[in-house]
Amino acid sequence: MRFKKVRAVYFSPTGTTKKAALHLAAFLAKRLSVPYEAASYTLPGERERGFDFSKDELIVWATPVYAGRIPNRTLEYVKTAIKGRGAYVVALAVYGNRSFGDTLSEMCAVIKDGGCLPIAAIAAPARHAFSDTLAAGRPDEADMEALERFAGMIALRLESGGDTVPAAVPGEERPKSYYTPLKEDGGPARFLKAVPKVREDMCTRCGVCENVCPEGSVSMDAYPAFRGVCIKCMACVRACPRGALYFDDAELLSHIRMIEKNFSERKEAKLFI
Ligand SMILES: Cc1cc2nc3c(=O)[nH]c(=O)nc-3n(C[C@H](O)[C@H](O)[C@H](O)COP(=O)(O)O)c2cc1C
Repeated sequence: MRFKKVRAVYFSPTGTTKKAALHLAAFLAKRLSVPYEAASYTLPGERERGFDFSKDELIVWATPVYAGRIPNRTLEYVKTAIKGRGAYVVALAVYGNRSFGDTLSEMCAVIKDGGCLPIAAIAAPARHAFSDTLAAGRPDEADMEALERFAGMIALRLESGGDTVPAAVPGEERPKSYYTPLKEDGGPARFLKAVPKVREDMCTRCGVCENVCPEGSVSMDAYPAFRGVCIKCMACVRACPRGALYFDDAELLSHIRMIEKNFSERKEAKLFI
């Protein structure tokens, strides 16, 4: 076996992508009898460097699905950072039980464009960052077991020499548009400009929100102030130890009710190999 290690790289504002990526990487490493390491590109400082993949490591690249694709604010970064002469990459798309859309196909295109080889692709449901009920608690034990099974199947494929076949995945390699979020009435939900609100009586100005924002858009004035781009990732809302942050944008709330109503049926993790 030519691999010396497994490396997981991930973007994960609310932690579910990280959880799935580390579990998959740990089991791949165990199965291949090599160590594994992990690197996040979630925070602005973490995106100051790229990844120089080599042929003797197996890469797990994991991203959450935003609007059916790779989160658009990370797209330019991953296009320059995902590089490696012939490195093998397992693509992992973590999604909120609605749809992973074109994410895996788009990831495979980025991997190939970066001189790497997509050898397998996984779509794994996880708690929807927008909701406390949609896919709540996921990835759960059954998801973790599925990832372990997939790790075994990927390792078998590598051992059997069938490793140079790129995974066939659904979706478009170069999608032209993003999923348009819908409201309960079926019309488009327009919440691009929404930013979190602060319950000042609950906020202790601890600064956690400032530290977890992937856009570096939170600054501490008297209370947290949201100035730059907000990607609605919910990192600050979910990390706030006092529950002092919330969105009250009517269109976003209508979209959340729509997905909770229409996408509550459990979807299972899928491996494309
Ligand atoms: C802005 C945004 C857009 C999303 N779009 C989708 C989507 O199109 N389909 C889907 O099933 N889940 C979608 N989700 C849910 C995320 O993919 C899911 O919550 C994921 O687990 C978040 O990863 P994280 O915990 O690593 O941040 C979206 C979440 C956010 C914040």
